Amino acid sequence: MEAQEAVVIVVGAGTTGIATAACLKNLSIPYIILEREDCFASLWKKYSYDRLHLHLAKQYCELPLMPFPTIFPRYVSRTEFIQFLDDYVSHFQISPLYGRFVESAVYAEDSKKWCVQARNLSSDEKEEYSGRYLVVATGETSDPFIPEVEGLNTFTGEVIHSTGYKNGEKYRNRSVLVVGSGNSGMEIALDLANYGAKTSIVVRSPLHVISRGMMYMASILLRYIPYKMVESLLVLLSRLVYGDLSKYGIERPQEGPLTMKVKYAKYPVIDLGTTKKIKSGQIQVLPAIANVSSNVVVFVNGKSHPFDTIIFATGFKRSTHKWLKGGDYLLGDDGIAKQSFPNHWKGEKGLYCAGLSRRGFYGAAIDAQNIAKDIKMLL
Ligand SMILES: Cc1cc2nc3c(=O)[nH]c(=O)nc-3n(C[C@H](O)[C@H](O)[C@H](O)COP(=O)(O)OP(=O)(O)OC[C@H]3O[C@@H](n4cnc5c(N)ncnc54)[C@H](O)[C@@H]3O)c2cc1C
Ligand SMILES: *[C@@H]1O[C@H](CO)[C@@H](O)[C@H](O)[C@H]1NC(C)=O
Ligand SMILES: *[C@@H]1O[C@H](CO)[C@@H](O)[C@H](O)[C@H]1NC(C)=O
Ligand SMILES: *[C@@H]1O[C@H](CO)[C@@H](O)[C@H](O)[C@H]1NC(C)=O
Ligand SMILES: *[C@@H]1O[C@H](CO)[C@@H](O)[C@H](O)[C@H]1NC(C)=O
Repeated sequence: MEAQEAVVIVVGAGTTGIATAACLKNLSIPYIILEREDCFASLWKKYSYDRLHLHLAKQYCELPLMPFPTIFPRYVSRTEFIQFLDDYVSHFQISPLYGRFVESAVYAEDSKKWCVQARNLSSDEKEEYSGRYLVVATGETSDPFIPEVEGLNTFTGEVIHSTGYKNGEKYRNRSVLVVGSGNSGMEIALDLANYGAKTSIVVRSPLHVISRGMMYMASILLRYIPYKMVESLLVLLSRLVYGDLSKYGIERPQEGPLTMKVKYAKYPVIDLGTTKKIKSGQIQVLPAIANVSSNVVVFVNGKSHPFDTIIFATGFKRSTHKWLKGGDYLLGDDGIAKQSFPNHWKGEKGLYCAGLSRRGFYGAAIDAQNIAKDIKMLL
C-alpha cells in the first residue's frame, strides 16, 4: 500500500497533540495527527473521574493561541475543560485520524523522511504514513499501570485502574481499597467516602500534603524568592494546617515537596478534603499489600481485611521506546524527555517531543509553540 504523505506527523491527540496542531495550523504548516482512540483528549473525556478539576489554577493550564473564557473559575472543572477543548479543536479545524495505533516510526536515510506504521483498529490493517517531521505527543499518562501483587489473580472482587473510575455511586456500603496515594488515589478515596463506601487507602511511602491555596501561593512566590525558601514555607504551612499525620499512617518526607517533584517526579498531594476524612476515621490508611487471596488482602503489617473492590491508582507506564526507533537519545525507556529543560523538545532529523518533560499543560504549550516555530524556520 502507498504511504500517505504529510509534512508533519503528530502522534497522539491529547491536549499536547491538539495544542501542537493549533500552532502548526497558525503557521500554515500542513500536518496529520494519528490517534489510537476514537476521540481527542481521551484522558479527559473517557479516562477520568467525574469530580476531577484541573489541579492547578487556570492561568497555568492554558493552551496556546486561545485563552480560557474569562468566566471560568480559578479551578476549571473537567466538564468546562472538555467544552473548551471542543471549541479549541473546532476553532483550529483539527481533525485527527482516529483509531490509528502507531506501532513503529523509523527514519529513512534515503528519503530523509519518517516512516510511520499505524494499525487501523477497526480493520486491523497496517497503514503507512511518511513525513519530514515527527512529533511525539503520546503523553506521560498513556498506558495504565497496575503493579504485580501476589495472588491478585485469585481476588474474587472487582479490580480496576483509576482510569476506569467515574464516581462512587455503585460503591455505597461496599468495602473498597484504593492502592496508591498520589493525587488521583487520594481524590478517589475522598469521592468513595462521600458516596458512603467503606474506604481504605494504601499509603506506602511518605508524602507531602498541601492545599490548593498553598500551591497557588508557592507558584507566585517562586517568581520572587528562591525555591528552597518557598519549599520550607510550604512544609511549615502544611504542619500548621494538617498537623502530624503520622499517627494516621502518613509520614512527611525528609526532602521538601518541590525537591521531591524535581528529583523523583513525586508530586505533593493537593488535599481536597481527604485528610479530614482520614482524621475522622471515614478513610482508613493501610500500609503496603503483602498478598491477596480470594476476597482478603494481607498487608505488610500482618493485618488482613476483606474487600469488594480494589482500585489501582498506581499511575502509568509509557511505551514510546517500543515503537520509536532510534529516539532513545531524546526519550528514556520511561518515555520522559532525557535532555534537561529547556532543550528537551528537539531531536535530530526532524524528530520532536512535546508534553514529555513533566511540566504539565504549561510545559506542553511551550513545547508546541517551539516545535511549530522550529519547523516553520526549517521549511
Ligand atoms: C488526573 C490528572 C489531572 C491532571 N491535572 C493537571 C493540571 O491541573 N494541570 C496540569 O498542568 N497538568 C495536569 N495533568 C498532567 C497533564 O498536563 C495532563 O495529563 C495532560 O492532559 C497531558 O496531555 P498529553 O496530550 O501530553 O497526554 P495524553 O492526554 O495522555 O494524550 C496522549 C495521547 O496519545 C495517544 N497515544 C499514545 N500512544 C499512542 C500510539 N502508540 N499511537 C497512537 N496514539 C497514541 C493516547 O491515546 C492519548 O490520546 C493531569 C493529569 C492527570 C492524569
Ligand atoms: C496566528 O496567531 C496569531 C496570535 O494569536 C494571530 O495574530 C494570527 O492571526 C494567527 N495566524 C493565523 C494564520 O491564524
Ligand atoms: C480503517 O479501515 C476501515 C475498513 O477498511 C475503513 O473504513 C476506515 O476508514 C479505516 N480507518 C478507521 C479509522 O477506521
Ligand atoms: C447501607 O448500610 C446502611 C446501614 O447498614 C443501611 O441502612 C442502608 O440501607 C445501606 N444502603 C445500601 C444502598 O445498601
Ligand atoms: C501473605 O503475606 C503474609 C504477611 O507477609 C505472610 O505471612 C503469608 O505467608 C503470605 N501468604 C502467602 C500465600 O504468600
